[in-house]
Amino acid sequence: MRVLVTGGAGFIGHNLVKTLLSNQYQVNILDIVSNEDSRVKTLIQMGANYFQGDIRDLAAISKAGQGCSHVVHLAAQTSVSASMENKTLNDEINIGGTRNIIEFVNTGEIKKVVSASSAAVYGNCDQMPLIEESAGDCLSPYAESKFQNEQDLLTMVNDDIGVHVLRFFNVYGPGQGTDSNYAAVIPSFIDNIILGNSPTIFGDGNQSRDFIEVSDVISLILLILIDDSETPNDIYNVATQTETSIQELLTLIGNSVSQTESSIEIPPASYQSKRSGDIDSSCASISKVKSAFGWQPKIELKQGILSLVEYELRS
Ligand SMILES: NC(=O)c1ccc[n+]([C@@H]2O[C@H](COP(=O)([O-])OP(=O)(O)OC[C@H]3O[C@@H](n4cnc5c(N)ncnc54)[C@H](O)[C@@H]3O)[C@@H](O)[C@H]2O)c1
Repeated sequence: MRVLVTGGAGFIGHNLVKTLLSNQYQVNILDIVSNEDSRVKTLIQMGANYFQGDIRDLAAISKAGQGCSHVVHLAAQTSVSASMENKTLNDEINIGGTRNIIEFVNTGEIKKVVSASSAAVYGNCDQMPLIEESAGDCLSPYAESKFQNEQDLLTMVNDDIGVHVLRFFNVYGPGQGTDSNYAAVIPSFIDNIILGNSPTIFGDGNQSRDFIEVSDVISLILLILIDDSETPNDIYNVATQTETSIQELLTLIGNSVSQTESSIEIPPASYQSKRSGDIDSSCASISKVKSAFGWQPKIELKQGILSLVEYELRS
């Protein structure tokens, strides 16, 4: 199987590509990041075919997708604040780019598409756990574009092609930048604690999120790629169905740092006022994805954080 991974140089994408390559899949990557980027160089050395290009350019997609039978579409403008500052650009990349992916998929040899959506499509919905039908209260152009992608993928892709849309919650793991929109709180807390700086909590720290380790996300994508049971095209939450407060998260990270490197003193948190637009709690129902693909997340947050802290202290 040759898989086209768009956004393969990004956080989830590069972890996915590494796993695909080590499982003997062939991989083509399409991403705007330069092929001089160190992460990209590593993926090329591991055997990936890298195509530097933009999903707004249909010809670039067709070139990168040559010979592929499956597509994992992760490339996106991923910043909520950037989407507020420049909705036009956000929509060109996320809506226009995804429509180009659909056009390519419909004219090529593609059998199946797995595409990234986001928990952002739930906005302030407070019926926890969040079920797939409750989406639509979009609070930003980013969320609106992801919601539009879902409709486009389910209605515009040819009937004989499998399409599965995954609403990722807060994904964390190795190689995530502190500028990421989702679980950036994790690399940011870890970095600050290691450097002896106070981690910042916005609000009282009681706000909660549903964190999922990237390898659990990848195991689901792999299951979907090889699934031959003709599961109907649909949308799924991808999370752990476990709510963790930011305060609990900080305690977990502090304990993991102490356990790994006892000489590091854990600085106290500093508190700032709640950021506008921050939702109070988020927790997904994962019943639908479990019953469709027999998948369930394996990595508990405590274990995932400890591994990540060990990785960060080693690198
Ligand atoms: N990380 C999370 O917790 C999370 C949560 C919800 C949804 N998502 C979605 O999952 C996907 C992957 O997220 P991520 O965290 O790996 O983000 P990321 O920002 O690390 O990766 C996105 C990749 O897309 C590439 N890209 C951006 N614009 C492009 C363009 N015009 N053409 C080609 N490539 C382009 C970037 O260079 C980057 O490598 C995104 O669609 C994101 O919206 C992620």
